[in-house]
Amino acid sequence: MTSQSSSPGRPILIDTDPGLDDAIALLLTFGSPELDLRGITTVAGNVPVDLTTRNALQICELAGRTDIPVHAGCARPLLRQLETAESVHGDNGLADVPLPDPTLKPRPGHAVDFLIDTVLATPGITVCLLGPMTNLAVALIKEPRIAANIGSVVAMAGSFFAGGNSAPALEFNMQVDPHAAHVVMTAGLDVTLAPLDLTHSVLTTDAQLARVAKLPGRIGRAALAWLSFYGAHDRKKYGTPGGPLHDPCVIAWLLRPDLFSGKRVAVDIDLKSDLVPGMTVMDWWGTTGKSPNAMVLNRADVDGFYDLLFERIGALAAAIQ
Ligand code: BDR
Ligand code: CA
Repeated sequence: MTSQSSSPGRPILIDTDPGLDDAIALLLTFGSPELDLRGITTVAGNVPVDLTTRNALQICELAGRTDIPVHAGCARPLLRQLETAESVHGDNGLADVPLPDPTLKPRPGHAVDFLIDTVLATPGITVCLLGPMTNLAVALIKEPRIAANIGSVVAMAGSFFAGGNSAPALEFNMQVDPHAAHVVMTAGLDVTLAPLDLTHSVLTTDAQLARVAKLPGRIGRAALAWLSFYGAHDRKKYGTPGGPLHDPCVIAWLLRPDLFSGKRVAVDIDLKSDLVPGMTVMDWWGTTGKSPNAMVLNRADVDGFYDLLFERIGALAAAIQ
């Protein structure tokens, strides 16, 4: 695939901590011409930010998308110490699969400033959050005018009925930076959440892995290594026939909202508890009378999701063999 400098699609920014499912979400984006990716900002999360940045650059190069600006962002959460997830994503964040050293470099300028400048220049832009929400929170604090320009925020974050993944009632992205999530969720933005309640039904089973194994070329090889590693960890942990595929749900929602359902509810983030700081308390049955502040997705057409994923990543993989 040759580099693309512009496209007429929906303008989006992706803030991410690659991460195996982040990597698949980026491939899905690259394979989807309806999305006009204006840049990638990286954050500390699954692994430290120097590695999430390196990984983002490697994924762009793998997919031939050297035109996409990658900006390095915050190295730690607002208040808490950084917690990482190497046991889930590998020591390098990408299943310890060796990829060529990136020849691309992060663009000059901090991710927060790039985010602010891009949002101010692009009214209505969609911001996709695939990791802890630190960068967007800092951007909102530094330049509150961006809130009026953000068309929507779609985030993989939170959990309610599904329990937690990194702690009993905590989803990882919320656990890492609950204070940033609080800033984002109280900024009056149009927010859609893809929590564990949704993503724990989107399983990469053996049947789906067999489809991954048929993807051609270097993208096919990388995707198979990434998803095999990711699935092995989560299958063992949850006793399920496949690992959940979290972050690509954010991108699939933009492409095919008809594949998902959910409900607009009031979501609060518990910042006071010693036990579960970052728990997303979702008023699913409207018991508090609070106004909804987020669309919370909790159901997917899983077959439809994987058909979309393989159609898009398959086309990308075939184009750059
Ligand atoms: C989220 O945590 C990370 O490990 C994944 O990349 C995903 O964004 C799932 O809880
Ligand atoms: Ca992630």
